[in-house]
Amino acid sequence: MNEESHVLEKPPEGASADWTIPQDWAAYSAQEHATWDILFERQAKQLPGRASEAFLAGVDVLKLSKPGIPDFEELSERLMKLTGWQVVAVPGLVPDAVFFDHLANRRFVAGNFIRKREQLDYLQEPDVFHDVFGHVPMLANPVFGDYMEAYGRGGLRALEYDSLDHLARLYWYTVEFGLIEEAGDLRIYGSGIVSSHGESVFALDDPSPNRIAFDMKRVMRTNYRIDDFQQVYFVIPSFEELLRVTVETDFAPLYGELENASDFGPADIAEGDILLTRGTQAYACERAAASPA
Ligand code: PHE
Ligand code: FE
Repeated sequence: MNEESHVLEKPPEGASADWTIPQDWAAYSAQEHATWDILFERQAKQLPGRASEAFLAGVDVLKLSKPGIPDFEELSERLMKLTGWQVVAVPGLVPDAVFFDHLANRRFVAGNFIRKREQLDYLQEPDVFHDVFGHVPMLANPVFGDYMEAYGRGGLRALEYDSLDHLARLYWYTVEFGLIEEAGDLRIYGSGIVSSHGESVFALDDPSPNRIAFDMKRVMRTNYRIDDFQQVYFVIPSFEELLRVTVETDFAPLYGELENASDFGPADIAEGDILLTRGTQAYACERAAASPA
């Protein structure tokens, strides 16, 4: 997500007015391509049966198993034929309005750098593995593609209402960390989970986090943490339902209402929650005990 403090005001030198830069695919070293391959192999082994069928189908149809960091041009060509989406490179975090405008026009912005070898398991800024492996397969799904475009338009609107914090939580708990119920089972579709070796097991199997049926307003009232595994996951019944409820709701009156509503913490259970799993929060407690703030 965008952390405003790190965002420049103008596109850096060499970037276009819309902040895009050439991916410069030829400049990746063999070592960098090999880092992608290691990350890809680990997740390819772990995700069948865990990730949503839509995600797995996206990996397949986009041919992401081809060795090396994907070439955005080649990837965009496949994606364009499927759902009209493209992948464009940016130098890092971009201003919110730029990000939303790209989404609204079916362009997904991706960082072009890849993490270092000592960061295989953890890094805070999104790199090309998170952005491409985590996000792009879902863009091959027509319903999810429509959701992302609608979100971009909703973001531009939220800027006018000065309500980005609430809308950002919807992105966080769906696009980044969402779970879905498929054939009576929980599956992962959130990009932050599918691109994480640890969290793609934790999110489904660990007794620590709460797993709660998705409710749009509830989600928009819930804080999130960006520095560790999540303490709560929200579960959608289907992508169609996620698209329907978010598109059919006019967020303008909601933003007004939410301005005066109190926030929930990530571990809170609220009145009306449908709990699929009541978490022990043991993981979060242990972590807090190990590193007192
Ligand atoms: N319906 C939202 C609005 O009125 C827009 C939106 C659609 C936001 C889909 C997120 C996802 O602003
Ligand atoms: Fe992301």
